[in-house]
Amino acid sequence: MRTIIIAGNWKMYKDVQETMDLVTQLKAAMPQLPANVVSVICPPFTSLQTAGAALRGSAFKLGAQNMSQHDEGAHTGEISGKMLKAVGCEYVILGHSERRQYYGETNELINQKAKKALSLGLISIICVGETLQEREAGITGQVVTTQIKGTLLGIGPQDMAKIVVAYEPVWAIGTGRVATPQQAQEVHQILRKQIAQLYDWALAERIVIQYGGSVKPDNAADILTQSDVDGALVGGACLKADSFAAIIKATKP
Ligand code: PGA
Repeated sequence: MRTIIIAGNWKMYKDVQETMDLVTQLKAAMPQLPANVVSVICPPFTSLQTAGAALRGSAFKLGAQNMSQHDEGAHTGEISGKMLKAVGCEYVILGHSERRQYYGETNELINQKAKKALSLGLISIICVGETLQEREAGITGQVVTTQIKGTLLGIGPQDMAKIVVAYEPVWAIGTGRVATPQQAQEVHQILRKQIAQLYDWALAERIVIQYGGSVKPDNAADILTQSDVDGALVGGACLKADSFAAIIKATKP
């Protein structure tokens, strides 16, 4: 049985005080997680230290939303994986569609970041997903296959234990338009099959593939009960403790 990972991508929300408040509420709402469930919160960089300290001893793990592909140096505005580790991060989201769309991140760059994260022992949540145009053109499978092959290039089977994949259809992110459970399951299957082709089936069966895109308390159970859906990457609904907790509770027992 695969672990279920529910991650909260806070995006560019919550300053330090708001982070304290939300973490306090989350800990109260979910003092314990269901068996087999891991939950990660990914606040902005400026809140990582605060969140990390406040989460110590709690059921939640800490993640970042991005990191540099470099170790250190003259990279103004960048944050290294080593810095993330130092504030308690165990996870890092890589290649979110907003990074791809607005900051020009390519599969090649995401691949470099994933390799850097692996070298530091960070678990990467690698995001893939098609645009509405691509879905309507009938090339969803092709798009996510290219993304997964490109972002995993040169990553050995041993390292795959520290890779999580998130399928996030771009048209479902922040739009309130969620993929149907069947649409999600279909793409998750394509991704798992592709991972099996790159490695083998035993490995592919162990990879956690999250769904992301307008996951809310009222649709979470339907999506999370699909056989190849192993959790969720949650945006909007993770900014309130009660809705994030409700999504965690919607995981299949
Ligand atoms: P959303 O965001 O839940 O607000 O659609 C998901 C994400 O961008 O990871």
